[in-house]
Amino acid sequence: NWTMERFVDTEIDRIRKVVGATGQVIGAVSGGVDSTVAAKLMHEAIGDRFHAILVDNGVMRLNECKTVHKTLTEGLGINLTVVDASEEFLGKLKGVEDPEKKRKIIGNTFIEVFQRESERVMRESGGAVDFLLQGTLYPDVIESISFKGPSATIKTHHNVGGLLENMKLKLIEPLRELFKDEVRVLGTKLGIPEDLVWRHPFPGPGIAIRILGEVTPGQVAIARKADHIFIEEIKAAGLYRKISQAYAALLPVRAVGVMGDKRVYDQVIALRAVETTDYMTADWFDFDGRFLRKVAGRIVNEVDGVCRVVYDVTQKPPGTIELQ
Ligand code: XMP
Repeated sequence: NWTMERFVDTEIDRIRKVVGATGQVIGAVSGGVDSTVAAKLMHEAIGDRFHAILVDNGVMRLNECKTVHKTLTEGLGINLTVVDASEEFLGKLKGVEDPEKKRKIIGNTFIEVFQRESERVMRESGGAVDFLLQGTLYPDVIESISFKGPSATIKTHHNVGGLLENMKLKLIEPLRELFKDEVRVLGTKLGIPEDLVWRHPFPGPGIAIRILGEVTPGQVAIARKADHIFIEEIKAAGLYRKISQAYAALLPVRAVGVMGDKRVYDQVIALRAVETTDYMTADWFDFDGRFLRKVAGRIVNEVDGVCRVVYDVTQKPPGTIELQ
């Protein structure tokens, strides 16, 4: 019968057989649980012949790139390169307000940057890279087979067909038979920190779809700070694991407020926190008033450019989890 113990051993054996004694593997990591667990498993199997790449798209959370870099290299020993492509992404997002356009730009730019980096690894390894690692889970496999609706665009990072073809890489997906809860057990077993194992899902297009309207460096800075305060307070209140996903979004409207003795005309932050098991339906999280009061107070006091905070009490359906 199936145990996680045995899964790790057989999977490591299988990876070694498939990759061979000298083969090399590349793979993108995001800081999320799936890609980190896949990367750690690969590292256990073939060490530094696995090359992880983290693309900084300029729309990750506050300090996220730095934290992920530290955890994966110092903590987990993974051979990781961080590529700072934030200017490239933000340059292309300039003037773009439409959410689907943002998604396309971010998805396509990601593929371009990742391909460029993969080609560099390929050159430096003398052409020895044969495989691309993906942290695909069982539900992703099912979704891509059976689901062709609007959310077919959801997994932007999984859209690597062109990359595989251009670089003649074969796909390797060690988690493709696992569910999320099994991946968390596996991650814990592999020594991945609790914080990361229980991380809320974070969309590929990042806070670009949580900034309604144009994504500028100034708007990114505001959204990041507000989000950081919200998540910090959720963790401090011991609510992080009860909530499935939470974030702060920056609305493209202004409202009047009084700060000190000055009249201000600043932007509005919308907080969203949901409970869900399948992400197809979701209910808003019922915080107590004191909690929301504290978060709202901190955001208007600590984040320049924001003078109001609202809480989204829309269920899914009809409201989606993201605002865009
Ligand atoms: P919605 O907003 O459709 O979100 O209720 C359901 C889940 O999917 C995530 N999501 C995305 N993930 N790229 C991603 O990688 C995307 O473009 C995207 N849009 C939504 C969302 O965060 C939630 O977990």
